[in-house]
Amino acid sequence: MARPPRLIVCVNERLGSGQRSCVGSGNLDFISRIRQMLSDAALDVPVVERECLGHCEQGPVMRIAPGGRFFTEIDEASLARIVDELRAFGERGDD
Ligand code: FES
Repeated sequence: MARPPRLIVCVNERLGSGQRSCVGSGNLDFISRIRQMLSDAALDVPVVERECLGHCEQGPVMRIAPGGRFFTEIDEASLARIVDELRAFGERGDD
């Protein structure tokens, strides 16, 4: 049976480290935006917060699961692509 898609988002903030992090790169705003976009598109996709997805220098980072690709250096255009891929993922399922 196909597993439903979910969106994994990084909420890591490397306070005081001087290193790049997803929160430091604005991911909280992008997470709010994508939640709204998913709602507007009537896509019932859980948004799951994680502390780090291992691509900190390329943040902000999100990933479609299960088995979906990483989206790095998220911007407004990325959000629309993520919504499109989640819609397609839900239609084809996880084979
Ligand atoms: S801080 Fe987001 S991937 Fe590590």
